[in-house]
Amino acid sequence: MFRRHRRWLQAPFFDKASIAQYLPVQTREAHVLLSNLLVDPDSFVKHVRRFSGATMLETLYGHSVISSDDEYLRLIDTTIEGTTAASAPGAALVDFIPILKYTPTWLPGGGWKRHTLEGRAALQETHVKTYALAEMHANNGKLSVVGSLIKEYSDKGEIGSLLPEIMHLGSSTYNAGTDTTKCVLHSFILAMVLHPEAYKKAQDEMDRVVGHDRLPTLEDRDSLPYLECIQKETYRWLCPVPLSLPHASSEDDEYRGYFIPKGTTVIPNLWLMCRDPKDYPSPDDFLPERFSALTAEEVERIDPRNIVFGHGRRICPGRRFADISPEMP
Ligand code: HEM
Repeated sequence: MFRRHRRWLQAPFFDKASIAQYLPVQTREAHVLLSNLLVDPDSFVKHVRRFSGATMLETLYGHSVISSDDEYLRLIDTTIEGTTAASAPGAALVDFIPILKYTPTWLPGGGWKRHTLEGRAALQETHVKTYALAEMHANNGKLSVVGSLIKEYSDKGEIGSLLPEIMHLGSSTYNAGTDTTKCVLHSFILAMVLHPEAYKKAQDEMDRVVGHDRLPTLEDRDSLPYLECIQKETYRWLCPVPLSLPHASSEDDEYRGYFIPKGTTVIPNLWLMCRDPKDYPSPDDFLPERFSALTAEEVERIDPRNIVFGHGRRICPGRRFADISPEMP
């Protein structure tokens, strides 16, 4: 099932042509974000939430958001907020003592199960509504990631058995794509507020390269090296998914004298990797310049994007889309 899901995400989020296809949505929503920040900077949390949610809602389901109070934005965000905390690895005792899943909801201490069941019902409702949304847009010729899957498997006559999986893929990808994007943008804003000298340097570069008569585009990216350093340092300084996702060793292994039996749960500490003083001296400081005085090979070697998107077979399938870097490995 996981292999199938990875394949389903590979085509839209990894192939160069598909990433280009979703670029107009990302660009339009970036412009909406800028305009909202200009008009009402104090509500930056709300604007960032709209940016990340609107981009994913349109890419995944074909739905264009026209207000921060959008019905689907509210529905899916509320559902996901309710389920994310409960589903974090180790968030409940049942993760360690599986027999607890038989606890009756009415028993004192059974509140976690009631919350989980309520969360599941809300998720199911969201699945049904967002599936109908993607189907409606696909029937009207507006394709999206979920809409394309619905069309492909409906044409093959296989949609029935795959329906729950397609619904789940939509909501889990929405969750994975919005939370992380929000986190990076919040970290960027925090870094710029705390480090006006870095902000000023980036602004000067922007003025020099882009001028005052237009907004920057992706084509300007190569001409904005300091901004690129800020982006790398933002990923590194506040690693967005500090403990990645739990992995399992597929065979017996040994690491620095520690024996790791096959099937062991391994939780990668990405946060610590981003703070290795050998590669990143004074790791707690926000220092974009650390990437500018190095050779291209060195920068590539210590590029935090090699860390923050995870590793191995489960590496983030949305990394090229998130970074708008079609060349990223
Ligand atoms: C800067 C933004 C992002 C960061 C830092 C990030 C980071 C991560 C990390 C660390 C993982 C776990 C990888 C592992 O297990 O080794 C992951 C998984 C995942 N990411 Fe991202 N991600 C980002 C954006 C996105 C976006 C925009 C999407 C969707 C378009 C996305 C979709 C996913 C999915 C579906 C998974 C689960 C993969 C699986 O279960 O095999 N991510 N991400």
